[in-house]
Amino acid sequence: MKNPFVYGEEVTGEAFWNRSQEVKELARDIQNGQNVIIFSARRYGKTSLIKNVLGKVKKEGILTVYVDLYPAITREKFIEIYAKAVSRSLGKPTQKVLEAVKRLFPKLIPKIVIRGEGEAEFEFDYEPKSVFKTSLPDLLNAVHKRAQEEKKTACVAFDEFQEIANYADSEVEKEMRTVFQAHRNVSYIFLGSKKHLFGRIFQDPNRPFYKSGKHMPLGRLPIIEVKRYLKERFEDGGIQASPEVISDIAEKGAGHPYYTQLLGHILWDECFEQKRITTKDVEEGLDKMLLREGELYETILDGLTPKQKNLLVALSFEPEARVFSSQFLSRFHLGSASSVQRACQGLIEKDLLDRESDRLVFQDPFFCLWLQRKR
Ligand SMILES: Nc1ncnc2c1ncn2[C@@H]1O[C@H](COP(=O)(O)OP(=O)(O)O)[C@@H](O)[C@H]1O
Ligand SMILES: [Mg+2]
Repeated sequence: MKNPFVYGEEVTGEAFWNRSQEVKELARDIQNGQNVIIFSARRYGKTSLIKNVLGKVKKEGILTVYVDLYPAITREKFIEIYAKAVSRSLGKPTQKVLEAVKRLFPKLIPKIVIRGEGEAEFEFDYEPKSVFKTSLPDLLNAVHKRAQEEKKTACVAFDEFQEIANYADSEVEKEMRTVFQAHRNVSYIFLGSKKHLFGRIFQDPNRPFYKSGKHMPLGRLPIIEVKRYLKERFEDGGIQASPEVISDIAEKGAGHPYYTQLLGHILWDECFEQKRITTKDVEEGLDKMLLREGELYETILDGLTPKQKNLLVALSFEPEARVFSSQFLSRFHLGSASSVQRACQGLIEKDLLDRESDRLVFQDPFFCLWLQRKR
C-alpha cells in the first residue's frame, strides 16, 4: 500500500487536507473578480491551496492561469514565463490554439517544442531589447482579452510573486498595476513567501500595488482536523494508533502542514509492518524527521555570519528572551546591542526570524527545535 502522507511538492486529491474555509472563500472571490493577496511562510500550503481552488473553479467554467514566478528572475524571463503560462491555459498546442496565441501576443514568436515525455508545448522567441516594452501591455492584457472573447470570468494566480521586486526597475510592477486595474472580469491572486519582499510590494504606500487587493493570510492547519486526517489515514492502512498517540503526532507537527505530513510519512513507513504506533515510535519519528531536515538547516547555518549564527542559537535556548536586554547579550556573549540589531535585521530578511509584537520568533519552529537538540 502506498504511503498516503505526501510532502515536498504541492498536494492534491486525498493528500490535500481541509482548508475548506479558505477554498470556499477564495472560490467566491474568484467568481467575483476580486484580487487576493496570500502570504505565508514557505511550506504552509499556498501552492497546494491555489492549485486546488483553480481546479475547482475551472470546472465551473472559469478560465484559469497558474504562473510560477520563482524562475522569473528578470523582466525578460517574466515575459517568457507568463506568455507560456497563458498559452498553456488555452489547451494543447493545436492550429487553432496557435492562432489564438498569435492574436494575443502579436509581437512574440511562438514555437512548439516537444518535451521528453512527448508533451508538446509553446515556447516564445523574441528580440529582447526591442520587444520588451511593446510586448508587455499585450501580454498583461492577454487573459482579459481571451476571457472577453469567450465571455468568461478569468483568474490568474502569480505564485512567488515577490520575485518581481528584484527586477532592475519597477516597470513590470507599474505596468501590471495599471493594466490589471481595468480588468473587471479577471481575479488576480498574488502569492508570496518572502515576507520582507512581498510585504514591501503591498504595504508601501509609494508602490503601485499598495491597497490593491484583499489580504488572506494562510495559517496552520487546525489540530482537530489534523487528528481526524491522521486517524483516517492510519486506519486505512490497518495501523493502530490510540487517540493519545494521534494527539501526540498532531501536536508534534504543530499544525504545520509540511512537517505533519513528513512525520506521518515517517511513522507510516516505520510502523506499517508492526501495524501499530506507540508513543515511543512518535518520539523516534520526530528525531528521524529532524535528522532528515538537518541537512537543510546546516546549509542555512553555513550561509550566516558568526553573529547571526550565535544569535539564532541563543534565541533557540531562550525563545521568550528580549534579545536586546543587557542580560541576554552578556549571557550569550553577543557583543553590542547595535551589532545584534544588524544581525536581527539580516535574519528577518533571510526569512528565518519574524518580529511578533515585541519578540523575535523563528519562522520555522522545527529549525528552533533542531538547534535546541543539537546542543
Ligand atoms: N492542505 C494541505 N493538506 C495537507 N498537506 C499540505 C497542505 N498544504 C500543504 N501541505 C504540505 O506542505 C507541503 C508544502 O506545500 P506547498 O503547497 O508546496 O506550500 P507552499 O507553496 O506554501 O510552500 C506539501 O508537500 C504538503 O506536504
Ligand atoms: Mg509554493
